[in-house]
Parts: sequence; C-alpha cells; structure tokens
Amino acid sequence: EPLWLVVPAAGQGRRMGAARPKQYLPLAGRPVLAHTLARLHGALPEARLCLCLDPDDAHFDPAWVPFADWRRVAGGAERADSVANALAAISGEATEQALVLVHDVARPCVTAADLRRLCEALSDDPVGGLLAAPVADTMKRDDGAGRVAATEARAGLWHALTPQGFRYGLLRRALAAAVEAGVTVTDEASAVEALGLAPRLVPGRRDNLKITHPEDLALAEQILIAQRA
Ligand code: C5P
Repeated sequence: EPLWLVVPAAGQGRRMGAARPKQYLPLAGRPVLAHTLARLHGALPEARLCLCLDPDDAHFDPAWVPFADWRRVAGGAERADSVANALAAISGEATEQALVLVHDVARPCVTAADLRRLCEALSDDPVGGLLAAPVADTMKRDDGAGRVAATEARAGLWHALTPQGFRYGLLRRALAAAVEAGVTVTDEASAVEALGLAPRLVPGRRDNLKITHPEDLALAEQILIAQRA
C-alpha cells in the first residue's frame, strides 16, 4: 500500500509581510519549500506526493521536488480546500485505507526520526493522528479587550504540529463535512474530531516550527544547524 503525502503550499503567508509567499523565502540558501520537500523525501523516499500550489504561483520550480512520483494540484481558498483538492485528485489511485500524511510546507525542520515514529504509530491505528508537543507556557484566554478573562489549565494542552496522518477515505469524508458545514478547520485533525473521533497524539520535537512571522526564518536556520550537530 503506497504512502501518500499532501503538502499544502498554496497559502499567501500574509503574516510574514514579505514580497513573496513564505514558502519561497530563502532559508540557509534554499527556498523553504525545497528544504521541506527534502526532509520529507529523506525519510519517506517511496511516498507519492501531492503538492498544492496557487494556480497563479509565479515562484515554483519543479527542480525543488525530489520525489519520483509527484503531481501538482491547484490550491483552494483555505487550507482545507487545498487538501480536499489533493484528495480529489488522487481518488482514482488511493484506496480507502491508504495512509495520507499532510504536512505544512512552512515546517522545514521536521526530522526523519519524527516522520518515521509517526508512520509507525499510525500504521495500525484505526483513526490516525498527528505529531504534537506539550505546551510549555501558561496559557491565557483574553476578554477581547486586552485583559485576561481566564487561565487555561496547561496540563493536557498540546501544540498541534504536522504531519497529520489519516486514512484516505476518513480524511476525505471529514474535510468534505467541514467544507459543507462552512466551518474553518486549521488542521486535518479538527475535521476528524468533528466526526466524533479521537486522533492519536504522537509526541514530536518542539523545534518542528511553523514559519509564520519574519523572525521565524532566522530561528529555523539555527534549528537546522543545531539538528545537524
Ligand atoms: O497560513 P498557515 O501557516 O496556517 O498555512 C498552513 C499551510 O497551509 C501552509 O503550508 C500554507 O501554504 C497552506 N495553505 C494552502 N492553501 C491555502 C492556505 C494555506 O495550501 N488556501
């Protein structure tokens, strides 16, 4: 059974405030997207890749894709639409039980060990799951006016990372239901949770950072250096 990888890379990355989407900003001499795909390929070279790109993308270069089996899919308005488009594009090939890993293009620091551990943890899991890291800071909820309304119990809170992996049929149903209900899901797990299922939390490294703000690029560069040491 082949493993599928979906990499949503159709976002504009507006929070970066840069001239081009964040996946094309240089990180240690290469675009973020090239790093992310190289990391995925290093651990999962046999996987089949679906890369979601903006149809008007002017920066993409196929030379950055190390996978032998890959296809380009048009991204949608939201992340969930981009992933749903990828799943629709492989409907003739993927079986209901095929494992699909979805990984943010903006997470270039994911390690091979985490990728392998996630695959192992999900290999016989009926629901699926995600890499996640326990929250270290005390968490506050605001009152909408700049003051604290409540302190959330930190125990039991996790950062949802990626990849997130689910069976093809389940993930397709979950995302279709979310899109139909008009709810914005910011990850795959929340769409699966909305069906009443409980995805598995697979402990992952905290340095699997999502490049979001300008200072994250320098941080990611240091993480890549530290991981090589
Ligand atoms: O903006 P954010 O960092 O939450 O986006 C998460 C991932 O989803 C990124 O990899 C981004 O490129 C992707 N995305 C997408 N299609 C969209 C919006 C975001 O593929 N319409």
